Amino acid sequence: MNDHEVLPLLDQIGHVVSEAITRARPELAGSDPVVRRSDRADFQSNAALALARRLRVQPADLAADLVADLAPALDPARGPVAAVERSGPGFLNITLAEHAVWAQVAARLASPRLGVGTPERGRRTVIDYSAPNIAKEMHVGHLRTTVIGDSLARVLDLLGAEVVRQNHLGDWGTQFGMLIQYLDEHPEISWRQADLAGDVSAVSALDQLYRSARAAFDADPAFADRSRARVVALQSGEPATLARWAEIVAESEKAFRAVYDRLGVLLTPEDSVGESSYNPVLAATASELVDAGIAVDSAGALVIFSEEVTGPEGAPVPLMLRKRDGGYGYDTTDLATIRHRLRDLKAHRLLYVTDARQALHFRLVFEAARRAGWLTDDAEATHVAYGTVLDRDGRPFRTRAGGAVRLTDLLDAAVARARAVVADRDHGLSPAELDQIAERAGIGAVKYADLSTSRVRDYVFDLDRMVSFTGNTGVYLQYAHTRIRSILRRAGDSHPEVDPELPMEREERALALALDGFGATLIEVSRTLEPHRLCGYLYDLARAFTAFYEVCPVLGSAEPVRGNRLALCQLTARTLSRGLGLLGIAAPERM
Ligand code: ARG
Repeated sequence: MNDHEVLPLLDQIGHVVSEAITRARPELAGSDPVVRRSDRADFQSNAALALARRLRVQPADLAADLVADLAPALDPARGPVAAVERSGPGFLNITLAEHAVWAQVAARLASPRLGVGTPERGRRTVIDYSAPNIAKEMHVGHLRTTVIGDSLARVLDLLGAEVVRQNHLGDWGTQFGMLIQYLDEHPEISWRQADLAGDVSAVSALDQLYRSARAAFDADPAFADRSRARVVALQSGEPATLARWAEIVAESEKAFRAVYDRLGVLLTPEDSVGESSYNPVLAATASELVDAGIAVDSAGALVIFSEEVTGPEGAPVPLMLRKRDGGYGYDTTDLATIRHRLRDLKAHRLLYVTDARQALHFRLVFEAARRAGWLTDDAEATHVAYGTVLDRDGRPFRTRAGGAVRLTDLLDAAVARARAVVADRDHGLSPAELDQIAERAGIGAVKYADLSTSRVRDYVFDLDRMVSFTGNTGVYLQYAHTRIRSILRRAGDSHPEVDPELPMEREERALALALDGFGATLIEVSRTLEPHRLCGYLYDLARAFTAFYEVCPVLGSAEPVRGNRLALCQLTARTLSRGLGLLGIAAPERM
């Protein structure tokens, strides 16, 4: 346990029930107490049902014994359990002692990390995310990897993991030969950020130029030949070509950085470890796989045939290690990458946040890494796959011309929509305040809409729904937070004292128990790699707060009731703001 960790009531009750199990039936010591939240009481334990079969006794009889053996725990003065009763075929309904619930609120409030533990401590976790391609604009397809990866990085970091972020930029490949050759033959065209007017970014200029280069390549065989020679020059490290390439990478990264800043993602230049950085080790990686007998020759190419996956006609599916022309590609780079992450970075956990369509690729890479002995039982590799962003007609989101939607255009549209919605509600904001709030609400709305859908599902990009003040949206949660902050400001932002001896209203209790579940939710996110669970939690928390606030006056109550209620307000505000922060979403004071 870390110094600021607060054991959730659920776990405390689990221990109490475990002890009762051991007292009642020593042979069952160590069994799962199967404690859950319950609609009938605060918690229920289904242990008797689960264990009776092992002992060949009636669940109801075992439950009765457990009730008897829980009696010593019912110390109304200090223990967390106030009452236990047997119900149904063998459930135990457990009611918490009110002082224990209040004490929990006080303890979490006193903790800078809201009592969240560090179960991931000592685990080095590499998260591969975002990874846009150099000289191409970031488009809607990069939204999901960027926001999901970033949220996972934040959650795992809070849980104590040693997170290594890796931006596997697409910065290498034959397409650069074409582009560099074209730039060289057209020195009159400006593309560097410093030479561009207005809000055109270097990467958007390069994206255009790449299209022109492609057209020239297809139309003019002589240009195609010169481009191929450029690829050779690049690969052999010819200084002028390499310098031009480096410049293209740097200018593109500047443009990505602007998008990252706007999105508020954690990725820094140090996290950029693009495909090109594995270049020097591709040959060694390939020969290691040949020596191990895993990579074999197939019609002049070097491939790894899967032992697990077969294609349509039953033939094993290959990974392409070296093409017939001697070139290395995406597969080779990913093999060198996984080798590096496991052998050099000594990671325990590898996460690859990419489109679900890359599932086969990663399955093959993981299989090869296992066969090569790089990926052992001490580590795990997971493809954190996600679904597609769709338009309102349920088709993959595209521009009218059929191209990919630029990420910046999408963010601009969301901010404009958020601005209109916020302006509609609050007329007292100055234009500068409005701009700032609209930016946070609009960006938050896009991120939240993405994160709140179950990761593997496709989802419809619907701006109107995203910026709505009602329903499970980022704007709703940001607004819920501002409302609580306003209550706290009116109370003078004091440090409320919690009196654990006060009685508890039903809604206070429901809110307190919801607050107590924050850490468990984060552990769920870390286990399933599904940030939507945190979104669902925060939404439920905001609703529990609304229910509480409807029946429990805060500022209108006298001390000591007021203090306890302010403590609930403060813990809710901090949990919402921390939770939104873990999604990479701002929690403004006002909106
Ligand atoms: N650059 C690739 C793309 O845009 C994604 C790279 C993902 N990471 C990896 N290690 N393959 O599709």
